[in-house]
Amino acid sequence: MTVFKRLLMYMKPYWWRILLAALASSAYGGLDAAFAYMVEPLLKKIFVSKDVFIFSILPVVILLIFLFRGICRYLNDYYMRTAAQLAIQDVRNEIFRKNIFLDLNFFHRNQTGSLMSRIVNDVSIMQEGVGGIISGVFRDVLGLVSLLGVIFYRDWQLAIISILVIPLTIYPAQILGKKIKLNARKGQEEAGDFTNILQEALSGIKIVKAFSLENSMIDKFSRANHTYYNFLRKLIKYSSLSSPTMEIITSFGISAVVLVGGSKVMANKMTAPEFFSFITAMALVYSPLKKLISAYNDAQRSIGASERVFEIIDAKQEVIDAQDGYKLTRDDNRVEFKNVSFKYQDDYILNNVCLVAEKGQAVALVGPSGGGKSTLVSLIARFFDVSEGKILIGSHDVRDITKTSLMNHIALVDQETILFHDTVANNIRYGKADATDDEIIKAAQAAYAHDFIMDMPNGYETSIGERGLRLSGGQRQRLCIARAILKNAPILILDEATSALDTESEQMVQKALDNLMVNRTTFVIAHRLSTVLNADKIVVLENGTVVESGTHKKLLEQNGLYSRLCSAQFKEDVQ
Ligand SMILES: Nc1ncnc2c1ncn2[C@@H]1O[C@H](COP(=O)(O)OP(=O)(O)O)[C@@H](O)[C@H]1O
Ligand SMILES: [Mg+2]
Repeated sequence: MTVFKRLLMYMKPYWWRILLAALASSAYGGLDAAFAYMVEPLLKKIFVSKDVFIFSILPVVILLIFLFRGICRYLNDYYMRTAAQLAIQDVRNEIFRKNIFLDLNFFHRNQTGSLMSRIVNDVSIMQEGVGGIISGVFRDVLGLVSLLGVIFYRDWQLAIISILVIPLTIYPAQILGKKIKLNARKGQEEAGDFTNILQEALSGIKIVKAFSLENSMIDKFSRANHTYYNFLRKLIKYSSLSSPTMEIITSFGISAVVLVGGSKVMANKMTAPEFFSFITAMALVYSPLKKLISAYNDAQRSIGASERVFEIIDAKQEVIDAQDGYKLTRDDNRVEFKNVSFKYQDDYILNNVCLVAEKGQAVALVGPSGGGKSTLVSLIARFFDVSEGKILIGSHDVRDITKTSLMNHIALVDQETILFHDTVANNIRYGKADATDDEIIKAAQAAYAHDFIMDMPNGYETSIGERGLRLSGGQRQRLCIARAILKNAPILILDEATSALDTESEQMVQKALDNLMVNRTTFVIAHRLSTVLNADKIVVLENGTVVESGTHKKLLEQNGLYSRLCSAQFKEDVQ
């Protein structure tokens, strides 16, 4: 019930549409009762009194009634459904807004396709049912009540016989509703699974082709699609069972009425037209009843989908913004890790790390892969919060700094060269929203990207396609570097930022980065040790622990892990 109340809240802003739809549907519902009521006088006038005037205007009246009914029906459908769609739009915006602010951890736990499916499919289903219920409540409840009025007016004894069956419909309706909700929810989960397969296959299309995975992907997809069908089949089964079940139950009522009413007519206690008016009204009573039950089933389905939507809307953020927190100034450049330990789940990835980067210093992190280097730097920008200890920028704990200020203070370049489906210029502009064209060109020049950009068909206005597919790895990386240069932030994080470049362009970009690093506090993680030689401090991380730290020269003298890594790489370079 609370889920349903929340669903209704989304409709609230569109109350006037709903009111209009409700009025139209009430008129529509009321007409049925009037119609059933009219059967008796009409039959009497036409067939008993043979009234020619009534007979001749009857066709026109019928046309007019259906015209009015049609208009009401249109208004009801149009305003109800647009209100539902507007509500869907709001839910979708809200779920996207909530979703995009959630922590990286959430995205590691949930698959992209399944999240997409919730935002696209579940939101539609969740609101579909609500529109039906609201118009159903107005049209069918009103229709039901007025038709009941007619049958009680005609013959209260027969009326009681005919409504005795109504309570009998409640229990099966509830059972079917429960099954529908359960299968709707499972079906939606499965829809999420196959959206996932779709998303992975399409975004990894190159690997799919390279490893000839087409057929196995097709298998996987069609299997998931079939599982989805199986839930839909159950859903269809239970909702198709709903009407016949109700009809069979109500037929007991009709039989009883025919029996009792028929004998009344034979005994001359009731006229034939009265009897037909009663039968018409009674048959019509069951129709809004059936519609209400099917609206109830739709509502169950939408509750099933809503639960999945609300799971995202209600997901708790773990990394919480310090709303009125400290705002960094350009002087807050010293970064200190104080006894920092960190775990994603159960196992500690970083253990008691102590590390200081003085203002303007470059600190290089080296060590075997999986040692925790990327994790360490991601803590500075609060992609995750430390499990123990703290990280200070200036003298402020990162958790006490507003997120906006923190993000403005840090420029990050890593191996994931994410570009958006947009022009080259706009992709660089993500570094600084109000950058002039001139600034963009300067940043591109500094990242040694200007020349290849100018070689593209429309220069800076060239659209680079999804994920930058038209560019080489090195070119993509240089655009990401240009973006970071444009951002001009006091703290710079370079996580394998030059890994996709060949030696020659790496040297060029390294020069650009060296220029960029002046007066900035920088964390560099580099695969090639040659790029870290000039760092003010080199920190060697192994299994989440700082095992050595110092300058290149000092570390070589120590003859530890660093010197072993250096000689291994030196051998590799010579070969
Ligand atoms: N999102 C995550 N969830 C759980 N474990 C992770 C996650 N990301 C990385 N790890 C683990 O943390 C460890 C350190 O990874 P990482 O910081 O990427 O190392 P490096 O950058 O030094 O190669 C690895 O053992 C890796 O498996
Ligand atoms: Mg890494």
